[in-house]
Amino acid sequence: MGERRHMATVAAPRTPPGPPRPRNPVRRVLPAKRDRLAAMTALRDRYGPAVRFPVGPLWFYLFSDPDLVQEVLVGSAEDMALGRMHGAVGRITGDGLFSSTGDLHRRQRRIVQPAFHRSSIRTYVDHIDARTEAMLDTWEHAGRVDIVRETTALAMHVVTDTILGGERIEDSDAMYEWMGAGVEWLDSMLTPLGPALAKLPNRRNRAFDRASDGLRSTFERMIALRRAEGREGPDALWALLSATDEDGAPLPDDLIRDELITMVLAGQETTAIALSWTLRLLADHPEAEERIAAEARAATLDDGALDALTWTRRCVEEGMRLYPPAWVVSRIAARDTTIGGWEVPKGVNVFASPWVTHRDPELWPDPERFAPEQVSSRHKFAYFPFGGGARKCIGSTLAVWEATIALALIARRVRLRPEGPPPPPVAQLTLRPGGPIWMSVASR
Ligand code: HEM
Repeated sequence: MGERRHMATVAAPRTPPGPPRPRNPVRRVLPAKRDRLAAMTALRDRYGPAVRFPVGPLWFYLFSDPDLVQEVLVGSAEDMALGRMHGAVGRITGDGLFSSTGDLHRRQRRIVQPAFHRSSIRTYVDHIDARTEAMLDTWEHAGRVDIVRETTALAMHVVTDTILGGERIEDSDAMYEWMGAGVEWLDSMLTPLGPALAKLPNRRNRAFDRASDGLRSTFERMIALRRAEGREGPDALWALLSATDEDGAPLPDDLIRDELITMVLAGQETTAIALSWTLRLLADHPEAEERIAAEARAATLDDGALDALTWTRRCVEEGMRLYPPAWVVSRIAARDTTIGGWEVPKGVNVFASPWVTHRDPELWPDPERFAPEQVSSRHKFAYFPFGGGARKCIGSTLAVWEATIALALIARRVRLRPEGPPPPPVAQLTLRPGGPIWMSVASR
């Protein structure tokens, strides 16, 4: 083990050992949601790649150098328990992949992995095509669209077609409402007082309880239907239904249900956000958009699409550099440990933030500029929109394919022009646009 280092810290209740801390508290309670991003970037700019700060009674250790990020997510992964965000999400997703640990996590990941292999994803391309074309049909009549709303609906359809094997969601309006209530509740849980407030009998908590019940029963019915139907497929639902445990017994329905809710929750909003931000960035970079349109016209959008759409994919990746939908990956130190030689005591929150690292001027010469050609050949963890290590996003390839194909089809058929400046990013559970993104639509 290397030399032990002590880091600067923001003044705080009882200061644990560790990396540098700023003299003035960043603010005791997390700053306004919009300021969180600026506050974290400012900490990195001022105090370097390892800094700790208190928020209310909690301590946060932010590591932003790629080597340190790699240590948090891979090298010292065994010393890290899942973060507060995982605990909150687990209230909806139960034992699903996002919140499970140890053997259960490893086993479940093995079972669903094939549904996310390239070979399975190739079979999903037709669904992505069909859903995007159907969305574009409605755009042509609309004249102007809210991109956030549209991509959210698209991503929900694609998750249903792919992960759930096209199994019909009985009441998709209710599903949206439940997802919305779930996400709103999760956002509120990320504040220092969140867990205490979650116990109050208020509107938000009641809506959350209704949403959890609604989601669970909808997915339970879906599982029963598919089992009765016996229809095979490359999708995750079928992989779970046909899997057996070590004793040859089928997986319990409540575990399958938890997995499905996890994937819908983890895969829908993130992908929609990635596509929304990329479309908004492209609206200010018509030359990049034209290049996508040309690439899309030359390609046949079949299962080899991704190989042909190199520029389009780079635009998606660059969009996620500037606006990573998962703006922070969080852990809690499970025991006293060190990261890069800095002491990290048991119980503190450990952050690696794609938002911060993706905008580090030492890694990206012109970090604020949208420059699709620059995503490549850096340190592996200079760019980590999907996290890394054993818990790296299982849906990363699907998400990139989905956004790339949708982007190509959109650029091939229509030209989008922004109506007003982009909304500010809001750092909650995900990096959401802080309002609608209205764009006018003109056919090509
Ligand atoms: C642009 C879209 C997406 C982004 C930016 C994203 C980001 C992430 C990140 C950063 C993690 C790691 C969290 C951690 O280590 O704490 C993660 C995990 C996960 N993601 Fe994604 N994700 C996206 C799309 C998807 C899709 C499409 C699915 C599935 C349909 C999905 C399912 C999951 C699951 C199940 C996990 C937990 C994996 C595990 O712990 O083993 N994600 N995602």
